[in-house]
Amino acid sequence: MVELSLPKNSVVGKGKTWPKPAGASNVREFGIYRWSPDDGQNPRVDTFYVDTDDCGPMVLDALLWIKNNVDSTLTLRRSCREGICGSCAMNIDGSNTLACTKGMDEVSGAVKVYPLPHMPVIKDLVPDLTVPYAQLRSIEPWLKTETPEPEKEWRQSHEDREKLDGLYECILCFCCQTSCPSYWWNGERYLGPAVLLQAYRWLIDSRDEATGDRLDELEDPFKLYRCHTIMNCTQACPKGLNPAKAIAEIKKMMVERRV
Ligand code: SF4
Ligand code: SF4
Ligand code: FES
Repeated sequence: MVELSLPKNSVVGKGKTWPKPAGASNVREFGIYRWSPDDGQNPRVDTFYVDTDDCGPMVLDALLWIKNNVDSTLTLRRSCREGICGSCAMNIDGSNTLACTKGMDEVSGAVKVYPLPHMPVIKDLVPDLTVPYAQLRSIEPWLKTETPEPEKEWRQSHEDREKLDGLYECILCFCCQTSCPSYWWNGERYLGPAVLLQAYRWLIDSRDEATGDRLDELEDPFKLYRCHTIMNCTQACPKGLNPAKAIAEIKKMMVERRV
């Protein structure tokens, strides 16, 4: 667990304005959240200017351009650069999304970039995801079986396989999780939309034989029932998934097993 000296990323002051790139004819302004655990300063928003003729079209391209050309201490996570790994999730222009798939041309005016909201910050644009990952582990996101293992593979019909569509595509970016007001207020106890979507993915997997135990684990006033169908999660998902629907399906399974 990372030791954090600031609990949340909410109190933010005006920061440094970095020089415009010399000789650039197309320049884009960025306001970027900065905070370091090492300098004892409050969080701030720095202003940067990016030469858009010298970098790719995505917000991530601009952030890397800044890191390479202006301030190498700018800290962010990224890996795949194509919307697959989920690590570049951040708040851009007021919405949680992936920096590598968000085009600069989708934002008008200065591009505001913050870490995912309501999470402790490790540094700059990097949130501490220790809690949601622990929550993910708690739902045991793997196939659980009791019957003897088949010689070759666990078979599944096409129809049953199709039930996983809209769920298996989740890249665990936590854009939904950190856009959910219920998670903001009860994040230690409410599992949140990303983790519940994963829980549902295993609940409806026809090969899994732990459905009853999984539902027992979720039967809790906080873990599942803090979802009030506000739908921010579904709006936020950069992969077009519907965590709110997955949560509703789990609630339905809870009711059906009582009948
Ligand atoms: S629908 Fe549920 S999980 Fe989604 S944002 Fe609303 S409260 Fe959170
Ligand atoms: S459901 Fe969507 S927003 Fe939520 S973690 Fe998965 S991919 Fe990210
Ligand atoms: S870098 Fe992998 S999703 Fe953006």
